[in-house]
Amino acid sequence: MKKDPRLTGQSALVTGANSGIGKGVALALGNEGANVAVNYVSRPDDAQAVVDEIKANGGNAIALAADVSNEAQVQEMFRKMIEAFGTIDILINNAGLQKDSSFQDMSLADWQLVLNVNLTGQFLCAREAVREFLRRGIVPERSKAAGKIICMSSVHEVIPWGGHVNYATSKGGVMMLMKSMAQELAPKKIRVNSIGPGAIQTPINKAAWDTPQALESLLTLIPYQRIGQPEDIGNLAAWLCSDEADYITGTTIFMDGGMTLYPGFSTNG
Ligand SMILES: NC(=O)c1ccc[n+]([C@@H]2O[C@H](COP(=O)([O-])OP(=O)(O)OC[C@H]3O[C@@H](n4cnc5c(N)ncnc54)[C@H](O)[C@@H]3O)[C@@H](O)[C@H]2O)c1
Repeated sequence: MKKDPRLTGQSALVTGANSGIGKGVALALGNEGANVAVNYVSRPDDAQAVVDEIKANGGNAIALAADVSNEAQVQEMFRKMIEAFGTIDILINNAGLQKDSSFQDMSLADWQLVLNVNLTGQFLCAREAVREFLRRGIVPERSKAAGKIICMSSVHEVIPWGGHVNYATSKGGVMMLMKSMAQELAPKKIRVNSIGPGAIQTPINKAAWDTPQALESLLTLIPYQRIGQPEDIGNLAAWLCSDEADYITGTTIFMDGGMTLYPGFSTNG
């Protein structure tokens, strides 16, 4: 754990935390002194490994199974989290997936799966978290806010993405979900923000970085000329849900090495 942890005594749920960005965020929050619930829908051993790593770093963690798109499973997960830690102070709405295809070949099932997990899953988890934030209110020794939610969005909340229409649509929806919640809940001292990652090296986008040719092509989209790491997002998430960021609500922070700067225009147009 860090020497001056910023989230001591707070409890955080990170969805999809047995892999990639969610794992990076769970480890970062654990290092800041938060009790961390590591959600997973498959591969329980990977979730347990994240729990073990947080504990080895001097933190406190549990693993909780739930499909974030299933209302009953989400409610049961929150019940178990509150039973274990007493409450929830921080929700990281991270779980997500892709089911790519050309638009004309996209099945209704693949459209619905992506919207159900990436958008409805964020709604279901946020609603349960907000209910608990409102029930409990502010605990000044822990945080200035009654609760914090970070939605894992994407650069594709603003960059259209052919071949991934269901995914880009889900992230565009996450942007309005986040902003509308933030507007409604700010008077209750609940902060809601998004992180918009660019290309982060995780299993979801392996095809984009696992050969030198793929990586070279990817880097043409990244002015800063490196692929991001889950720790980059973990560091940002830890700060964004700490009181150092207490005046930030309703915004997306892009962490993308400049991907949203339209790099194609640096030598053209
Ligand atoms: N890697 C990137 O470049 C990148 C860029 C922008 C946004 N994101 C977003 O970051 C988030 C994490 O992605 P990642 O890159 O770490 O990929 P990943 O595949 O490593 O992790 C996704 C996690 O979500 C979980 N998950 C999927 N469906 C679930 C469900 N129904 N219920 C609970 N958990 C479920 C997976 O099991 C996994 O743990 C996603 O929302 C993704 O859209 C990633």
